[in-house]
Amino acid sequence: MKGLILSGGKGTRLRPFTYTGAKQLVPVANKPVLFYAIEDLVEAGIAEIGIVISPETGDHVQAAVGDGAAFGARVTYIVQDEPRGIAHGIRIAHDFLRDDKFVLFLGDNFIRDGIVPQVAAFRDGTMNAQIILYEMPDPSAMGVAVLDGDTRVIQLVEKPKQFISPYAVIGIYMFDARVFDAVDAIKPSARGELEITDTIQYLIDRGLNVRAHLLKGWWIDTGKMSDILEANRLVLDTFESRNEGQVDAASQLEGRVVIEAGAAIVNSTVRGPAIIGKNTRIENAFVGPYTSIHHDCLIQNCEIEHSVVLEHTRIVDTPARIADSLIGRNAEITRSVGNTKTLKLVVGDYSKLGIL
Ligand code: G1P
Repeated sequence: MKGLILSGGKGTRLRPFTYTGAKQLVPVANKPVLFYAIEDLVEAGIAEIGIVISPETGDHVQAAVGDGAAFGARVTYIVQDEPRGIAHGIRIAHDFLRDDKFVLFLGDNFIRDGIVPQVAAFRDGTMNAQIILYEMPDPSAMGVAVLDGDTRVIQLVEKPKQFISPYAVIGIYMFDARVFDAVDAIKPSARGELEITDTIQYLIDRGLNVRAHLLKGWWIDTGKMSDILEANRLVLDTFESRNEGQVDAASQLEGRVVIEAGAAIVNSTVRGPAIIGKNTRIENAFVGPYTSIHHDCLIQNCEIEHSVVLEHTRIVDTPARIADSLIGRNAEITRSVGNTKTLKLVVGDYSKLGIL
């Protein structure tokens, strides 16, 4: 089997981060979301992976993933000129996929338990398509599936206005070569995209064997800010303590804390679950639970908790504790000096600041 990861799109709900990078590269516990998808495929025995990229952010994705060797995979890049829908991503990957069975994985989707049993069942079975469902009280922002019995899928509707079933279709799908007829036949939806739900409905309408697997562990579509903080909490909760950096005698590590190589903790408290990235310095500071500080940052004379900080950022001398925050790359948060209380800001488009 092969893998196909979609890593294009404009990431409008994750601005301003997505002005300078792909949404699939936003880190969760200091690792890009996309890397978890690649690892899930490799763990399921799939090493031949195509990644669909956009002209805007494709370079970043290629720089981060390379040829895939670091993951034990061989990666082929496929450029999608415009976000024309998930099914369009399959269409343009036909040459790469040939007629092999494959897993389609949306690069911003994130699950806890991997896909090993589902891939094995699909590889060895007679299904034409397998989808993975997640039960939720209100799945109206997703594709939704209606079942006959435990596993047979009889209907799929994209973002239904009325409640038809509690089963959201998550962004991990398995197909055989019959899917290519479907993606060639369907027409763009009202939002101008070739929809994956229409693709699967086409297979159902032709009497093909489309089955569902109900997910037990958590699933997150990391398309929004709040989802990134939630994913970060969930992953940090699975970590064991590890210290590959330097912690001086005046500092305390409390609970489960990961210190990556080259990081320095000086006269500070880090209360886990938390991760401090490579070559980051924490000095005279408090880093509280559910915080991920990425590599090459400086956190000095300040307090921060339940936050995600991207690489090369400096947070120095801040008077109030920072919480519930996502802070981008190469950002600087410092205290202004002077007699009057002024805020000096350079704030990017679509940023959100809460000021005391
Ligand atoms: C897409 C699919 C939808 C699926 C969702 C999973 O939605 O169209 O069927 O439930 O991914 O993340 P979109 O992110 O394009 O709104």
